[in-house]
Amino acid sequence: MPRTLADLLVLPIVQAPMAGGVSTPELAAAVCEAGGLGFLAGGYKTPDALRADIERLRSLTSRPFGVNLFLPQPQPADPAAVEPYAAGLAGERARYGTATGDPYGPGEDGYDAKLALLLADPVPVVSFHFGVPEPEVLAALRRAGTLTLVTATTAEEARAVEAAGATAVIAQGVEAGGHQGT
Ligand SMILES: Cc1cc2nc3c(=O)[nH]c(=O)nc-3n(C[C@H](O)[C@H](O)[C@H](O)COP(=O)(O)O)c2cc1C
Repeated sequence: MPRTLADLLVLPIVQAPMAGGVSTPELAAAVCEAGGLGFLAGGYKTPDALRADIERLRSLTSRPFGVNLFLPQPQPADPAAVEPYAAGLAGERARYGTATGDPYGPGEDGYDAKLALLLADPVPVVSFHFGVPEPEVLAALRRAGTLTLVTATTAEEARAVEAAGATAVIAQGVEAGGHQGT
């Protein structure tokens, strides 16, 4: 089993996981086959869909890859803040003939079941977004032979990631394509 990320990489390139549909197994396989580390996005996806993605990726490449998970968010957005903001987008909705979508996001998306899946059938790398996993989670993945990465957007977050026992910190800029791990 790999001990460091460098053991996995032919080229020092990691494909960012992108929840919402673009991070297909085909994309991850292409990155893996080119010598980088391809990633599957586990966020906004059922555990069964994630399992199917992993199976599909394994059928496309035998190279190492990663799976990304979103931490559950304990604090739902405050409707008192969200509703006026959503109402303020009425002009944009009309101009583009579109709907607002769900401003509260998917909520709980099967985090525990996905973790159980990744512990029962380990993958080379698991990364986390929107929070720091419990140290026990990172230790269990380590025992399963999985390297763990956790996104940090500030130095304070990076220290929390290190203290929790992750293999490495994903040091993310404040812009982060609009997808900060903070
Ligand atoms: C459309 C989009 C979706 C993203 N989804 C995820 C995700 O599901 N998980 C994750 O860890 N990061 C996600 N990110 C953040 C990226 O992993 C990355 O940190 C960010 O894009 C900054 O890197 P860049 O400067 O190379 O784009 C997403 C970014 C974009 C643009």
